[in-house]
Amino acid sequence: MSETPTLVTCGLPYTNGPCHIGHLRTYIPADFYVRYLRRSGEQVVFICGSDNHGTPIVISAEQQSITPREMSERYHHHFDTTFQRMHICFDHFGMTDNPTNHARTRSIVQRLIDNGHVYAKTISQSYCPQCERFLPDRYVEGVCPHCGMMARGDECDQGCGKHLEPGELLKPVCKICGGRAEFRDQEHFFFRLGNFSPFLEQYLPGLGGTSNARNYGLGWVKEGLHDWCITRTLDWGVRFPGRDDLVVYVWVDAPIGYISFTEEYMTATGGDWTRLWCGDGKVIHFIGQDIIYHHCVFWPSLLKGAGYGLPDAVVASGMVKIDDKTFSKTRGYVVWTNDDYLDQGLCPDYLRYYLLSYTSHTKELNFSWKVFAERVNNELVDTLGNFIYRTTHFAYKKCGGIPEGEADTAVLETIAAAIRDVDAAVKSYEFKGAVDAMMALASYGNTYIQTQAPWRMMREDPAGASQVIRNCLQLVKALSLLFEPVLPEKAQKAWELLGYTDAVSDHVVSEGLSGEFGAGLPEPAILFEKIEDDRVAALDAVLKKRVEEAKMKEKQLEIISIDEFARLDLRIARVLSAEPVPGSEKLLRLIVDLGDEHRQVVSGIAQWYAPHDLVGQDVVLLANLKPAKIFGVESNGMILAAGEDASLLVPLRPVKPGTRIK
Ligand code: MSP
Ligand code: ZN
Repeated sequence: MSETPTLVTCGLPYTNGPCHIGHLRTYIPADFYVRYLRRSGEQVVFICGSDNHGTPIVISAEQQSITPREMSERYHHHFDTTFQRMHICFDHFGMTDNPTNHARTRSIVQRLIDNGHVYAKTISQSYCPQCERFLPDRYVEGVCPHCGMMARGDECDQGCGKHLEPGELLKPVCKICGGRAEFRDQEHFFFRLGNFSPFLEQYLPGLGGTSNARNYGLGWVKEGLHDWCITRTLDWGVRFPGRDDLVVYVWVDAPIGYISFTEEYMTATGGDWTRLWCGDGKVIHFIGQDIIYHHCVFWPSLLKGAGYGLPDAVVASGMVKIDDKTFSKTRGYVVWTNDDYLDQGLCPDYLRYYLLSYTSHTKELNFSWKVFAERVNNELVDTLGNFIYRTTHFAYKKCGGIPEGEADTAVLETIAAAIRDVDAAVKSYEFKGAVDAMMALASYGNTYIQTQAPWRMMREDPAGASQVIRNCLQLVKALSLLFEPVLPEKAQKAWELLGYTDAVSDHVVSEGLSGEFGAGLPEPAILFEKIEDDRVAALDAVLKKRVEEAKMKEKQLEIISIDEFARLDLRIARVLSAEPVPGSEKLLRLIVDLGDEHRQVVSGIAQWYAPHDLVGQDVVLLANLKPAKIFGVESNGMILAAGEDASLLVPLRPVKPGTRIK
């Protein structure tokens, strides 16, 4: 590469849960942008990776009895493959826990120390006396000192949204044992963020990207910045130079990942990463609105303090909502990229189209299956797909291929104007505007073929009809090139319908004006399939069910009084006999002894226990559960078991059948 390429990055996904469509609003627009720049002949390096550190990952790993590294590798792989399935084409997808990033982070932190931007200070930090440990970030919950809402250790996520420094949280409670935490003194290291206000006031107004990023950033600087504690008492993370008991805060080593991953990629491909991060390179970050503070306040200050180059643009999307509700995994308002979408056989391009064209990039985006289907059916199927099919079908059937000659000037001018509109919109990060301009060209084509009606002209004016089709084919060519960044898979298919055998992504958009075509037309095919109403209902039902289940769970988890607990008639029961329930692989019919009576209970444990293993065993029975018929067999109670593989609860010392549990 001779000229310095533009570097585009995306907010790095945390490796503690699967990809959802909220995430995709960072990655799809970035991928679109990169593909578009490439279709405009520009050199781009597209870099991302997974964010492996921080307390949520440690906590999730502990819950699953695996190491944070194992957890990270699992989800790293998950994101990597999911992105490929969605046609998100990173040049490199790194890991923040890999050696390059450890080294780069330590070197940058050392530079900050050497340059006088870091100081040590003893602070009182949440400490759990029962667990005998400090409670960084997500290990502690309490009350937000700013708004009084329940908050996490590092952020008031349900209230004012403010970032919280260690020790700021009021009434801390340990997340591990649920006990009351206290404050203890500990030495930590702080970054003098407050000193960077004058720098940020100068830098931010000239920052490219979307205005929300700039404006939020400036707003925070005007409110006054306080110094950031950049160390945590944890084992998992990048060691703070010179201290074995501390790691750096995840928000230090995560953005440094942008540099490390560029370094890994450029080194592997024989390029020079320093040109991008310390020279004349252009760096553009794509993120969601929730992490503007980190990218527009903290990150540029870190870079400045360590003597690196600064980002040229921050492109921040509005947040994704589901059915007009705030995105929430716990409340069930989530759409999983794999389970709910790709694994249902839905085309990645449809979701890309929805996310790009639904609304302006900086606005909130609402996802609903109903609107999703409407957009696909009305726009992709009825407008774009219909036009491409009518054109290629007619050319193939009636013209025997691509008619000789050039497209009309008026048509070429319309295409040129569309290319200009798209370009202006993309350059101002108006992705919806860009996709609308593309769809407007498809609409123009549809109206054109409809009003010209070459099928009627054919008999009296075959040359005229041929010219109409020639024009339409030119439009299809331009549309394939223009839509490639939105619909990489379908654009390639459209391209092949024009007789090309190479990749549409090897071409630039301006070729949409040139009259060269492939060898001959293949048999036409339908590109887009309608999403039928019953399909929409089924997809929507999955979401509705998840929300219902989350509501149930929330109800179950309410605090109850001892009297409410006493309403449960829990007893020790001895299994007298056990046999499979005919027609079911999961159920066993048990007769249990409750001391003064025998009961029949149906239990879903057949996968884990053979009937003969159970006979004679003492188990725990919920004896006053409303009777129910399961597979036609009456069940009078419920056997208690724990976990995914139904480990049965049993008494530790022998007790008489029927003994009450309290
Ligand atoms: N690990 C941090 C980013 C570190 S960047 C140095 C993080 N991870 S994340 O997994 O929570 O989010 C990854 C990306 O997805 C971020 O750009 C984030 O803004 C975006 N989104 C995650 N959920 C989102 C919505 N519900 N809506 C829109 N974008 C959101 O943040
Ligand atoms: Zn504790």
